[in-house]
Amino acid sequence: MPSTPTQSSASPLSLKVIGHNAGTSMDGVDLVHVHFTQDSPTMPLKMQLLHYGEYPMPKMLKARVMGLIKENTTTPEEMAIVNIQLGEVIRDAVHWFAERNEFSLATDVDLIGGQGQTIWHLPLPELFEGNQIRAHLDMAEIAIIAAGTGVTSLGNFRVSDMALGRQGCPLFAALDSLLLSHPTLNRAVQNIGGIANFSILPRGDVEGCYDFDTGPGNIFIDAAVRYFTDGQQEYDKDGAMGKLGKVDQSVVDKVLRGPYFVHDVPKTTGRETFGDRTAEDICDEMLARGATPEDCVATITRITAQSLADAYERWGPPGGVDEIYMGGGGSHNPNIINYLQQRRPNTRIIPISEISIPVGAKEALGFALLTLECFVGRPMIVPKRTESDRAGVVGQIQPGKNMHRIRRHVVQFWGDFPEEQVKSTTKMILLPSQCDM
Ligand SMILES: Nc1ncnc2c1ncn2[C@@H]1O[C@H](COP(=O)(O)OP(=O)(O)O)[C@@H](O)[C@H]1O
Ligand SMILES: [Mg+2]
Repeated sequence: MPSTPTQSSASPLSLKVIGHNAGTSMDGVDLVHVHFTQDSPTMPLKMQLLHYGEYPMPKMLKARVMGLIKENTTTPEEMAIVNIQLGEVIRDAVHWFAERNEFSLATDVDLIGGQGQTIWHLPLPELFEGNQIRAHLDMAEIAIIAAGTGVTSLGNFRVSDMALGRQGCPLFAALDSLLLSHPTLNRAVQNIGGIANFSILPRGDVEGCYDFDTGPGNIFIDAAVRYFTDGQQEYDKDGAMGKLGKVDQSVVDKVLRGPYFVHDVPKTTGRETFGDRTAEDICDEMLARGATPEDCVATITRITAQSLADAYERWGPPGGVDEIYMGGGGSHNPNIINYLQQRRPNTRIIPISEISIPVGAKEALGFALLTLECFVGRPMIVPKRTESDRAGVVGQIQPGKNMHRIRRHVVQFWGDFPEEQVKSTTKMILLPSQCDM
């Protein structure tokens, strides 16, 4: 007789997690401190955001990592050093975050997890020449993080998802769906980081979510601005430069005919396909035909904006999306948002801060949830429209000084809940945030 999953979960779950994310833009490390609680394995998971912060990426290291990615040539020595240095950055960021917000790593943090810096993401080798295979590498040594904080640390979520037959990215559909799936509205959660991605949440179906990368978010814009200001400016603050220029539609159309944009979902991408070089080439070509730097930035910004609008039309749900929740640094750029609103006049476009999540916090929050679920031993909801529907627990664990205590806590939470009935979380309640917006 199969046992019933109700009775003997001995004690509620209560774990505090620091989630971190160093995105493609390499502007910094986003950090969240989250309290997860759950009365029993069959009850909804509760999530409460306690603190949020952004730790700037040290300039020297950013230049070193950018050099490595931009040239796609390196040495084993350089890779080994950068892995350690990135681990040290996350360790330092975590200490800074805790001190600044006056919480203790020893008593107020049970787990730390996130992604290091993506070094190489090759999800669609068929779009390239040569004999590549699907691969992903992000780096920030979790042994350094755990040793330097005492806290059990997790990483390698993306390659872990890739091992199950998917692309390892964007990896946020489950969080987005748990936060925002609605019974009667089709919603999307859009993130405009270095790369832009969105999750589609078809109405009334928390497990019907799917996500993919639309292409460049800020990556080209940042590259163009750096190019024209000799590295003095890193991005087009509030779209000021782009606003002054004229869009060259023929350039936009030509770029958007490229293989990535027309490729069907599932698809994800990164700097390997949309690197600084491509942006600089677009600028050079336009300058040669008499365009101004502002025209170039306006045009490059439109590439992002139009690729988003096109993707909603091509791969959105039947009937379109009723609401789009916006996050990521690019949601501050009116040249993107206004164009998208123009193309989707009947869609309400709302910053994700409307549900008390700071626009820069969502991806770190995604890693906090992945960290919790990995340690608790639950798979995440598998998004639709991927190559594989194989569920699995994703992530890798480096035990810290607190390992025994938290392991015992999780064992007590499960009690004798039958292993074969362990399913992904499909109900989550977001408790009011404690952090300033
Ligand atoms: N006020 C702003 N106006 C325009 N763009 C902004 C603004 N603030 C941030 N950004 C853009 O957002 C980028 C960082 O976004 P983020 O969500 O951190 O991306 P990633 O996840 O790739 O690190 C910056 O590089 C910049 O291009
Ligand atoms: Mg960032």
